[in-house]
Amino acid sequence: MTVDADHINDIIDHVLYSKEDIQQMTKRLGHQLTKDYAGKDPLVVGVLKGAAFFMTDLVREMDVKMQNDFMDVSSYGDGFESTGKVKLIIDLQAEVKDRDVLLVEDIVDTGLTLKFMEDLISKRGAKSVKCCALLNKTARRINDVVVDYYGANVANEFVVGYGLDYLNEYRNIPYIGVVKPEVIKANA
Ligand code: PRP
Repeated sequence: MTVDADHINDIIDHVLYSKEDIQQMTKRLGHQLTKDYAGKDPLVVGVLKGAAFFMTDLVREMDVKMQNDFMDVSSYGDGFESTGKVKLIIDLQAEVKDRDVLLVEDIVDTGLTLKFMEDLISKRGAKSVKCCALLNKTARRINDVVVDYYGANVANEFVVGYGLDYLNEYRNIPYIGVVKPEVIKANA
């Protein structure tokens, strides 16, 4: 079934990672995390909104006892460039003291969001804080955060789909595509 295909073709230049590519990455990461978190009863935290999609697939590939929670943190608003200031919009409900916390992100870009969350969770007394991101855009990193687990490194292109938005839309595309540079320019 094709839904609103023109709408998508108008903005996507090409597919970067197909649905199958994403499934393979998620399985590989889930397998590794199953080994690394065996017996640790981790708190796995999805960072809304983008990571909700990856999070729900990833945890189903992790065969460990765990708890799940979400938090909403944002630094981009509706724009293309990070505002440089990270805002906590919805906090965790779970206590993190003495817990092994695994943050799940769709993408780590400048690293500002991850740094903000790592600092916050460490300050609250977590035993460990690690991050699993589907995509790692190291080209834009402005700090020294470490992405402990990731699916793929991406170049400095605007990617969309599978949780990643373009002007707060297109998160529901089941693959990851690169937005046409001319579309970005026209909206900049
Ligand atoms: C995106 C993404 C990460 C963050 C990464 O979230 O989901 O959380 O940006 O960028 P950074 O490394 O430069 O901080 P965004 O703030 O756009 O919110 P959203 O997930 O609700 O779209």
